[in-house]
Formats: sequence, structure tokens, C-alpha cells
Amino acid sequence: MCGIVGFNGKLQAAPILLDGLSKLEYRGYDSAGMAVRNDEGEVNVVKAKGRLKALSDKTDGGKTLPGTCGIGHTRWATHGEPSENNAHPHCSDDGNVTAVHNGIFENYQEIKEKLMKSGYTFYSQTDTECAVKLIDYYYKKYKMGPIDAIAKTMVRVRGSYALCVMFKDYPGDIFVARKESPMIVGLSEGNSYVASDVPAILKYTNKVYYIDNMEMARLGKGEVEFYNVDGEVIEKELVTIDWDAEAAEKGGYEHFMMKEIHEQPKAVKDTINSVVKDNKIDLTNLGLSDEEIKDISNIIIVACGSAYHVGVVAQYVFEDLAKIPVRVELASEFRYRKPLLDPKTLVIVVSQSGETADSLAALREAKNRGIKTLGIVNVVGSSIARDADNVFYTLAGPEIAVATTKAYSTQLIACYLLAIQFGLVRGELTAEQSINLIAELQTLPEKIERILTDKERIQWFAAKFAAAKDVFFIGRGIDYAVCLEGSLKMKEISYIHSEAYAAGELKHGTISLIEDGTLVISVLTQNALFEKTVSNMVEVKSRGAYLMGLTSYGHYQVEDTAEFTVYIPKTDEHFAASLAVIPLQLMGYYISVARGLDVDKPRNLAKSVTVE
Ligand code: M6R
Repeated sequence: MCGIVGFNGKLQAAPILLDGLSKLEYRGYDSAGMAVRNDEGEVNVVKAKGRLKALSDKTDGGKTLPGTCGIGHTRWATHGEPSENNAHPHCSDDGNVTAVHNGIFENYQEIKEKLMKSGYTFYSQTDTECAVKLIDYYYKKYKMGPIDAIAKTMVRVRGSYALCVMFKDYPGDIFVARKESPMIVGLSEGNSYVASDVPAILKYTNKVYYIDNMEMARLGKGEVEFYNVDGEVIEKELVTIDWDAEAAEKGGYEHFMMKEIHEQPKAVKDTINSVVKDNKIDLTNLGLSDEEIKDISNIIIVACGSAYHVGVVAQYVFEDLAKIPVRVELASEFRYRKPLLDPKTLVIVVSQSGETADSLAALREAKNRGIKTLGIVNVVGSSIARDADNVFYTLAGPEIAVATTKAYSTQLIACYLLAIQFGLVRGELTAEQSINLIAELQTLPEKIERILTDKERIQWFAAKFAAAKDVFFIGRGIDYAVCLEGSLKMKEISYIHSEAYAAGELKHGTISLIEDGTLVISVLTQNALFEKTVSNMVEVKSRGAYLMGLTSYGHYQVEDTAEFTVYIPKTDEHFAASLAVIPLQLMGYYISVARGLDVDKPRNLAKSVTVE
């Protein structure tokens, strides 16, 4: 969950490291640090607690750390509190080895004890310091080169890591190693870059190599060599990334989240167009044949957080359009619960980053059990994308804000498209029904656009409730699934306690939490459930709740019950989540802004959760 950047080339390293880290701050932001080698070969380390700005201020934007080779890190604490002492880079006692790390070394205690017996001392509470000193130990004890010392360490440690290492004796190189934590290497004329994610280096190059598990690399100035864990040189394919650098900038918006909310019409359109040709869905690029689709007995959707909420929507849509039984599971539960899996099950793993540790582990669990897997993934070349049997890439582009918006929207689209095609291939939908559903999908970008033009109304309402203590979201069916996402948006960026409840379930306990003035947001987009949900609104209203209704144009009777109503354009009810979520994203955003919070980097969170 931490961010790593390394640079070795013809330019000053520190400003490039700071710039790259600023693009990775979403991965962790409790402390940061850099190590830069100067022309005399000395490595200077500077660290700062808090946001990256503190490190930038401390080094005058990198000017006080001269040198053309360096590594940097922005931390999301796992072992040891956020502090300057625990911040990376970490060094061996004599400064021979300096490194930054993303991931967790699980057996660090045992390694620490072993090294202490050999005279090593420890200054931090981190697992990283142990690994750095273990590399140093092997390097000296066996008089081996950096690649062999790192390889020996890789075999000795357990856990996950992306490691970036500098050796005092090898001033011209940076060494890297990876297991389970993402790491890419980029090259431009005379310069080499390494980073945990593409946006960090996109400004400098869009040509990257993906380092795979148990692989290492040596980065010289503008050149790179890759190795397997046996220390043998291996060849890797250079991949061109078609995201542009601008996509990873704020582009005039105050926050990435607002920019990404506005990018949804395009992201949705691009994702639809990636598989729809001449009003037909073509899944050939995913590698899913009609025979395979017909052969599936049931689907299990596995994901975390908002991606899980996509799964909850998809469950209703798949079952209704394709008549396939669907179960949705939290990846962190699925991986440990020894699920009973029919050999004809399809496991769909939904993930923006493609690196979420629990989702990746669930995918591997399914694969190990011989089950067919499909990833719905945004980040090209990510671990889930590479490990899944088939991949549906969402075309959201880089998503930087911790709170997902456009990735969520494109994941929904991917699920709708799959459900329509599964319905058609399995004979549950006629060609005409499929064409009509696709045509309706194609109207969604414009409808999202229309909702966004009315955002000031939501801003006004959000300002009124910025001091709320609790917020409840209620709905039934797909509306309940949207409530889950609306509620998560609210709590993760505005720190207001909120809960999503299936509207009919409230009276089984939760209704006792409703007090005078408690804000209850009710979502009503499903015709057959409309009156039932209105009854639940009346129930909470009579206990003092202040009601906001979110419904489609035409359902004006909501205003008889709700104090404030937001309307969204009409669409096929299967796709209503794509529209209903937009005002809820805006609510979360505006409340967070009104409370003066850091919208893009909420406390305690990180964008991709690469630890269990
Ligand atoms: O990268 P992933 O889609 O696998 O991430 C899953 C969740 O961590 C993510 O959706 C999280 O819940 C978001 N912060 C919600 O906005």
C-alpha cells in the first residue's frame, strides 16, 4: 500500500522522486522519505512524518539532495507507528545497503533475532529494516553480488514485497525485487525509473516493463537487466501504456475525486464501446466463447469495498437477465471459508487496482481449485489481470482519489454487458431484447452528464448536513446495492457514521437509532418496490427522520414524504444504479469539502490495499 519511486539517469533525482511520489500519495501518506546518491558516491537520506509536502519542504523541493540516482517512498504504516524513525528508506548499520519497501515481511521477528545474534542493531519497529539488514548480512558473509544477496533474501523471507535497493559499492545501479506487490520499470533516453504504479512515471515515459513475482532487476542509467530468483538473466516484454500523463493530473478541478466524477460519462462510454460493435456485444477479446458461457452453472463474484458493491448490483442484474444463480462474496471471507465450488462455476473478481491482496488471493484460491476465473480490472498488467483466465478491462483510466467513482461506474457497465451477453447466449434474452438493452446502455453517459449539470442543488443540501452525526441509506433490491455504495462514500471521505440498510430490514432493529433530525436517504428507482420503500420512509419519518428521496423523474409523489428530492433520468431499471450513484458520490464529496477534510486522501486509508 506504500508508494515507491526510483530514478537513475542524467537528471537530478530528488525532484523526480518527489514528483513521482506525489502521484502515488494515494497509496499511503503518513510519512515519506528519499535516499539520493551524490557525485561523491555518498547516500543522503531525508525523511519526514506526515504528508509528502513535509518532505518537499524539508528538502526545498529536492534541491538540498543533489545527485542523479535515488529512491523514494511514501508510507502507509503496517509495522510501527507513523514516525520519522519508521519512515523509509531504511539503511544497514554502516550505510552499505539502503532500501525502500512496499508490502509485509511476515517472519521479520525471527530474522531480527537471528541478525541481532550476529551483532546487528535495530533503530525502527519496521519489518523493512530487518530485510535491509538481511541483504547486507548475506552480501558480506558470502561475499556475493547484489543480485545474489537479494535473491538469497527473497528465498529466506515470507510475505509480500516490492523492494528498491541501493548498495554503496555499486554507485551506478538501483536493484529491485518483487513478490506480490506491484512494481514497474520505465526507460527513457539515458534515464531509468522504477515505481509501484504507472502514474508516477507517466510524465517521463509510457514504455514500461512489469516485474513479475520472484523477479529482480538492475537499473543502470537508461538501461535495465532482469533476473529470476536463481540470478539468471531473463528477457521481458516492453509494454506501451496508452494512458496520457494529463489523465493523472487534476486538470483544473480542486480534487481528483471531482475530476473523476466528471470523467464518468467518458469512462462509461469507452467501456461500452470496448466490446459493443454494430449493436452487438463481442467478448472475443476476453477469450470467453459462447460454449464456455453456456457451460457455466453459477457465478461467484468476489471483491472488496466498492467493487464488492458492484457485485451486489450485478447479482440482481445477472440473475434477472441471464437467469444464472449468482453469489457475491467479500474476498477476505471467500479466501478462508473453504467454499463448495461446482466445477462449472465462474468466479468473477472485480478490482480497480488489480492488486487488492484479498481479491488476488481469492482469485488464486479459485484457480487452484480448477475453477474458471474472469477479472474485471482497470489497471492493465496488474496482478489480477495477469492471473485471471480471462480479463474484462474497464476503461476508466487512472483513478487517483482514494474514494472510487469512475472505476465503480465502469465496473457496473462491465457487469451489465456480461449479463446481457450471457442472457443472449443462454437463450434467456432475444436478439431484440439484447439490442434494446445495449441501446439503453448507450444512453447512460449522456444521462450521467445531465445529473452532473444539477450538482449545485446537492452541494447546497450537503452543506446543510455537514455536521450530521449519523446518516442512513435505505432502499430495496438494486436500490439497496446503491445505498451500500452511497454509504461507503459518505463515511470514507466525510467521516460521518453512516449505514446502508435494506429498507424492509430497518424495523428489525436499526430503526431504534432514528432520532429527531437524523438524515435518511432513500433510493427508489425500482417500480415494483417503490410503494414498499415509501412505506419504510413513512416509518422513519414518523420517528423524526429528515428524509431525502432519490428517484427517477416521474415519481413526483416522493415529495409527499421526503423533505428534499433528487431526480435522475429514467432508464431501464437494471441499469438504475449507474445513475442513482452519481448524486450519492456528490453528497459524499460535498459534505467532505464542507467539513474541510482531505477529500482525495482520507485518513487511515490507501487506494490499493495490498495487505490482508
Ligand atoms: O482496487 P480495488 O477495486 O480492488 O479496491 C477495492 C476497495 O479497496 C475499494 O473499492 C475501496 O473500497 C474504495 N476506497 C472505495 O471508495
